[in-house]
Amino acid sequence: MMKVLLTGGAGYIGSHVAVSLAAAGHDIVCFDNLSNSRAAVIEHVEAITGQPVPLVVGDIRDRDAVRGAITDHGANAVIHFAGLKAVGESVADPMKYYDNNVRGTLSLIEAMVDCDVRTLVFSSSATVYGEPQYLPLDEAHPTAVTNPYGRTKLMIEEMLSDIAAADPAWRIAVLRYFNPVGAHDSGLIGEDPNGVPNNLMPFISRVAAGRLPELAVFGDDYATPDGTGVRDYIHVDDLAEGHVAALDRIRAQDDALSVWNLGTGQGYSVLDMISAFERINNVRVPHRVGPRRPGDVASCYASPDRARDELGWEAKRDLDAMCASTWRFERTAAMRNA
Ligand code: NAD
Ligand code: UD1
Repeated sequence: MMKVLLTGGAGYIGSHVAVSLAAAGHDIVCFDNLSNSRAAVIEHVEAITGQPVPLVVGDIRDRDAVRGAITDHGANAVIHFAGLKAVGESVADPMKYYDNNVRGTLSLIEAMVDCDVRTLVFSSSATVYGEPQYLPLDEAHPTAVTNPYGRTKLMIEEMLSDIAAADPAWRIAVLRYFNPVGAHDSGLIGEDPNGVPNNLMPFISRVAAGRLPELAVFGDDYATPDGTGVRDYIHVDDLAEGHVAALDRIRAQDDALSVWNLGTGQGYSVLDMISAFERINNVRVPHRVGPRRPGDVASCYASPDRARDELGWEAKRDLDAMCASTWRFERTAAMRNA
């Protein structure tokens, strides 16, 4: 049993991982500056897990605050979700991303060393593979970046690799997420971005709910079966269970740093996603084909083999479950706000 500090624990992925860790018998404490989340999320995590979940409101760039949280709660591992993730914003304001993501991670690591905690799971992204040179993407695929957000993820990965090489006492898991979607079955936690969503699934859900008029399909002339972009969508609860498996694995092995893809290996197109969402939830998602979005690739999906072989983990939930849970969260949130 571990006592795990979750930076960004009030966020979309962090809140689901909190639930999975609690279910696996670990103790958790969340640390979040609430820049992209609300404290009420923690109350929902408490309702799901049936146990108190401490929330420390603080910033990862504040070394003393992180040190205090680790010491006060006796944390012996950290899962690091805290970060900014909007690609367009990172192009417009790169310094904000280098400050929050890169400087924030360095400061977090300093605080961990101060407290003699060297077990870390880091949220990376398939964005570090850049334009795919072959598919499926395995962990040996060369890395490349196409925007400042992606560069912060790659810089952090490289920083962690140097740190692990210098001090073999570290136990670090770098997890490269593909496209996390869906919500916990309770409908209590899920993805609820501020403003107009950038990502496909929350956009579809808001159009289905009538909160946005229609979805723009970003291009239908890609070299894919139906011409629209193909991605590896993974249920957030599967992703969450992957974190529990990774934490268990790094504690049991001698490697100072390991990299694992968290994906399903299965690609779906934008049109696949729209029709699945309509069919499963019996709703309509008005959409129209528009121009391509700059920076998008035609297809991106994982080889999940290394995670399966080394973590004994694989995604179990299908596209129907992803669509149904997204809609349940949308409806539950609407009732709560009504
Ligand atoms: P999110 O915005 O819902 O969660 C991030 C949390 O971190 C938020 O609660 C925010 O308030 C907090 N935070 C941000 N900066 C902070 C700081 N300086 N100090 C303390 N807290 C801070 O995002 P998410 O989707 O849950 O993503 C979690 C992590 O996973 C991020 O690092 C993101 O880059 C990475 N990731 C996400 C996706 C995705 O599709 N959602 C894909 C790949 C990687
Ligand atoms: C995007 C980011 C990626 C980030 C990930 C998770 C870009 C270029 N990439 O990935 O760095 O890690 O989100 O936050 O922003 N689509 C539409 N209409 C929409 C929205 C999306 O057709 O309104 C299409 C896209 O063209 C793509 C697919 O849906 O083919 C998925 O898009 P999205 O959910 O934004 O994820 P990614 O682009 O894979």
